[in-house]
Amino acid sequence: MFEMLTAAPPDKIIALMGQFREDPRPGKIDLGVGVYKDAKGDTPIMAAVREAEKLLYERQSTKTYVGMAGDPLFNAAMIGLVFGDGADRARIRAAQAPGGSGALRILAELIARSKGTTVWLSDPTWPNHVPLIRAAGVTTRDYPYFDAATGTVRFDAMIAALKGAAAGDIVLLHGCCHNPTGANLDHGQWEAVADLLVSRGLFPFVDLAYQGFGDGLEEDAFGVRLLASRVPEMAVAASCSKNFAVYRDRVGTAFLLGRNPAEADIAFSQLLSVARGMYSMPPDHAAAAIRIVLEDGKLTESWKSELESMRRRMVLLREGFADALRRQSNSDRFDFIARHRGMFSRIGATPAQVEKLRKEYGVYMVGDSRINVAGLPEDRLDTLAASIVSVMAEG
Ligand code: LMR
Repeated sequence: MFEMLTAAPPDKIIALMGQFREDPRPGKIDLGVGVYKDAKGDTPIMAAVREAEKLLYERQSTKTYVGMAGDPLFNAAMIGLVFGDGADRARIRAAQAPGGSGALRILAELIARSKGTTVWLSDPTWPNHVPLIRAAGVTTRDYPYFDAATGTVRFDAMIAALKGAAAGDIVLLHGCCHNPTGANLDHGQWEAVADLLVSRGLFPFVDLAYQGFGDGLEEDAFGVRLLASRVPEMAVAASCSKNFAVYRDRVGTAFLLGRNPAEADIAFSQLLSVARGMYSMPPDHAAAAIRIVLEDGKLTESWKSELESMRRRMVLLREGFADALRRQSNSDRFDFIARHRGMFSRIGATPAQVEKLRKEYGVYMVGDSRINVAGLPEDRLDTLAASIVSVMAEG
């Protein structure tokens, strides 16, 4: 049977992790996969999560099944984190999922079951959005998003394209920290998007993978919360991979907002039936630890302060790297890096230049020239900037 298959192409982001690990050069620099790194290049377990895991070990008396939606108290805590105090909780339902990707996947299936046919994705978007969403049997279309020349959002073009969407189409929006560009909607632009979605009857599907990595925990939820206060229905996929640093444990949440509690209940029953048919029940361990963090005032404060210091470090690295690039290039063409927020920016190198940076300088980034700013080496920003400027000058 397997002779029928041809090999699947490697995932471009995940494959980079392996290439980097195998590279013996001591000065190699990993700006590839989106994991937070500290100044030593490590991705530590957050102190509050570690403490919660200890408490979990002491307190947990069984590992029997929890259920298709995971832990209701974890889900309630996540509703608070994502939607805040002002949300109409009677219309929101939440299901713990295997990472943000698991949440995206089951919500895409729910959209397909609801007869949604077309999901609009930003151009560019996180590459894995495409297979995750198409696997549900819906089609995807692109809306323009990023102007590489200025490093800004092509907002007028985005709105013009979405005006061409049909009522009932789904619009996937990055809640904050756009992946791969780092260019984000401002408050006025979110308001305009909300107006458009409401007036055209479009359905928002928000991917919130980096809450707390952009402008702050509350600030990064602005778009989701605004939409939740305006639109009749929506779906949100949140990831805990980055803001709780529990990447491999796979924790996320799939949220839906219904027009009324009764419709929300029906849609939720369908969402759980999707989950049951795909993986049955989500993994528990890190979700249980996160619940402990979010229910314990002291641990919550510790987590928030560590998250904030990670966020600040990324902002400082952005500023330091933009300065270094300004010095090395004698131009302000990379200044957008300091204005962007989140883990990523695209530096504008061609795939051939990206390849050359990897081969000749040991600098790893995604082929579209996306860099993970958390991986920037604090003590070698000028050296790195000089390599990038030199390779990009060669054309
Ligand atoms: C990334 O964009 O690098 C992360 O979201 C990791 C992944 O799964 O692609």
